[in-house]
This record gives sequence, structure tokens and C-alpha cells, in this order.
Amino acid sequence: MQDSRTLIFGKDGQAGKALQAKFANNPHINFIGRNECDLESTDQISATLQKFKPQIIINAAAYTAVDKAEQEIELSNQINATAPRLMAKYISQTPNGQLVHYSTDYVFDGSKNFSYLESDLTGPLGQYGKSKLSGEITIQDIFKSKTNSTSKYFILRTSWVYGDGSNFIKKMLRLAQERDQLKVIFDQHGVPSSAEWLAQIVIQLIASDAKSGIYHSVPDGQTTWHGLACFAIQTAKELGCTLKVNPQAIQASPATEYPLPAPRPYNSRMDNHKLKDALQIAHFPQWESQVSEYVKKIVSQQK
Ligand SMILES: NC(=O)c1ccc[n+]([C@@H]2O[C@H](COP(=O)([O-])OP(=O)(O)OC[C@H]3O[C@@H](n4cnc5c(N)ncnc54)[C@H](OP(=O)(O)O)[C@@H]3O)[C@@H](O)[C@H]2O)c1
Repeated sequence: MQDSRTLIFGKDGQAGKALQAKFANNPHINFIGRNECDLESTDQISATLQKFKPQIIINAAAYTAVDKAEQEIELSNQINATAPRLMAKYISQTPNGQLVHYSTDYVFDGSKNFSYLESDLTGPLGQYGKSKLSGEITIQDIFKSKTNSTSKYFILRTSWVYGDGSNFIKKMLRLAQERDQLKVIFDQHGVPSSAEWLAQIVIQLIASDAKSGIYHSVPDGQTTWHGLACFAIQTAKELGCTLKVNPQAIQASPATEYPLPAPRPYNSRMDNHKLKDALQIAHFPQWESQVSEYVKKIVSQQK
């Protein structure tokens, strides 16, 4: 990857900023944000691909406004499905090209009692999940239709992402400083994933001889939103943060108390063994160790 012409879309998002941090100063890598290429415009996407002629594309851009998507069906489909289709078309015709595309746990309806496998039936509950699923399907269809292609695609389904940007952990730490009571959902299950760790996974996958396909890309372990909030707030407290809320006093609420335009899956847990096998790694870090490092970083930035 070091010497391959690489385009990274979504440079200003959480995943994109983590990729920027990993690849700073590499002259072969170009980072693209909305100002350089608006993914609403197929003309701009085509022009960008023709200009840079990438061998590798990493698509970390997405329409991620989960509730707003219910009203913005066309726009969310354009960014989450049409744009990746153009990227896939381009890379599938590029000798030894690689496309890495981020996707989501929201492609599932959350009704399974165990962790989801890559082969499990999808069934998104809302438009965001539907548009992301369309993106996955279109990428796979394009590569399937190019039987002689020497290029590869990797679709990384991840969940509960946090990094440099707005996210649940930051929100909980802020609320814990402002309020003396906190209620958090206890009946939705998932795996928090660090954007920084995901960037490392992308590098490893590109360098590997892994086959094209979908890979569930989450660290080890699992929790609930309530479990994550308690852990992050407890960690901040141990680091000397002044908080109004005592972690033991965070109340557990059912998701039904917070009706939203787009329903969220109750179970977002995804099995990561396929990715581990592809990378020949026995264990990924536990989510707690990554969240702990992240909270340390946030707290030190506040001091
Ligand atoms: N965040 C999560 O909890 C989560 C969970 C599961 C999966 N994922 C997936 O992980 C990936 C990265 O998520 P993230 O948290 O990094 O998202 P994010 O912080 O919301 O970043 C998304 C990026 O996409 C860009 N973008 C949106 N519309 C665009 C357009 N029309 N033209 C060009 N760029 C556009 C945004 O640009 P602006 O900065 O200009 O708005 C933003 O920088 C996405 O594929 C997402 O679906 C995220």
C-alpha cells in the first residue's frame, strides 16, 4: 500500500481522520473530503477517479444521519449506494486494484440471539441501513460480474464507532459533567469499535492475501449502551475527572423509552472470526482496553 496510488474518501469523518493519522506524509495517498468531491455528484466522482487513477480506494465516507435518512431517501441512497457503485466499477477494472468500503451493523434487524455471521440474513430496520445494504450489494454484484478481474473488495461491517468526531462516549462524558442523573439504554447489545483500530485493520487487510468479501470488523467482547456509558464514566472518574454522576448511579432504561424515527437493532453483535482468520490473528483487543485508551485521550485533551 505504501507505494500504491490510493484515494481515501471521507477524510473529515471519524474513520477518515483515523486513516489520515495513520498515513500522514505518504505522497501516494490522497485524502478526499466533501470540498474536493461531493459524493452527491456522479460527475464529480468520475472526474476524481480519472484525475487520481487510484489503485486502491478506501471509502470511509457515508451518509450517517440515521434518523434524517428516513426523510432523505434519495440522498442517502446516492451517497451510500450509488457512490460506492462507481468506486467498485472503477476498481474492478483496475489491475490488482483494491476497494475497502465501511459498512454497518444496521444491515441487520437485530432479532438474532447470538452474534451475527457475515452469511446471516440481512434485514435493515430503517433507510440508513437499507442504503448501506444497497451499497454492499452493488459492490458485490459489480465484482461478481467481472469474472476475470484481478482486483479485490473488502466490505468492513463495523458498529458503535468512536474517534475524532461526535460519538456516544463523548456525549456520555459531557452529560456526566453536566447532570447529576443519567439514564441509558440497557437492552441494545453491540461492540464499540475504535476508528483508530479500524484504520489499522484496513492496512492489515490490504497487505494480506485475504479474499474479497464482507468482514465483520469489531474488537472482542460485547456490551450494551448502558455498559459502555458506565465503563467510560468510571474510567474518566479514575483518571481524576470531576463528574456529577456516580457511575454506580447511572440508571438503566429500555430502548422503548427513547422512540426515534429510525428503530435501532436490539442486537448489533457481529462475529469477528472470519476477519481474524483472514489476518491470522488469534485475538483482537477487548473493547474495554480500546475505550479506556480513548477516554484517557479525551480527558488529557480537556486538561
Ligand atoms: N459512526 C458509527 O457509529 C458507525 C457504526 C457502524 C458503521 N459505520 C460506518 O463507518 C463509516 C465511517 O463512519 P464515521 O463514524 O466515520 O462517519 P462520519 O463521522 O459521519 O463521517 C462520514 C463522512 O462522510 C462524509 N460525507 C457525507 N456526505 C458526503 C458527500 N455528499 N460528499 C462527500 N463526503 C460526504 C462526511 O463529510 P462532512 O464531514 O463534510 O459532513 C463525513 O466526513 C461509514 O461507512 C458508516 O456507515 C459507522
